[in-house]
Amino acid sequence: MCRYNKIIKNALFNELTEKIKQRERDRVFCRHGIEHSLDVARIAYILVLENNIDIKKDIIYAAALLHDIGRADSDSTHRQDSVAPAEKILSACGYGIAEIYEITSAILSHGCAPAELNTLSDVIGRADKLSRLCFDCSARGECYWQEESRNKDITY
Ligand SMILES: [Fe+2]
Ligand SMILES: [Fe+2]
Repeated sequence: MCRYNKIIKNALFNELTEKIKQRERDRVFCRHGIEHSLDVARIAYILVLENNIDIKKDIIYAAALLHDIGRADSDSTHRQDSVAPAEKILSACGYGIAEIYEITSAILSHGCAPAELNTLSDVIGRADKLSRLCFDCSARGECYWQEESRNKDITY
């Protein structure tokens, strides 16, 4: 079994994913479940292929699957809160120390939209923003995203 498929079968991953689902049951804004994580994974992988960036698929998918896992407890500090469970899950799924460092660095920085696309942090940050369907959102009137940051067309 490839390593990112071990993640979706990991007990802690599933416990936290279920907590996020419960917390966001009545959320009108974008949610952070497995659909969002996979949107980010696939867009990030397309970005890597299109731009000939040397990052392995199982690193990209691991970062995407875990980037919002801290939302099980908090929205405002979720990047920092994602790191400890991500380290445990990644280690249990066979990721090495250097890979875990690269992935958790991307998790910590994913809130900012990167100017360039070179690193795992860049592609996860860019894919996270591109994954949202602002043009089809019924909560856009109340959303905090600046008008110029919103996705008004399909890009990926
Ligand atoms: Fe996030
Ligand atoms: Fe996200």
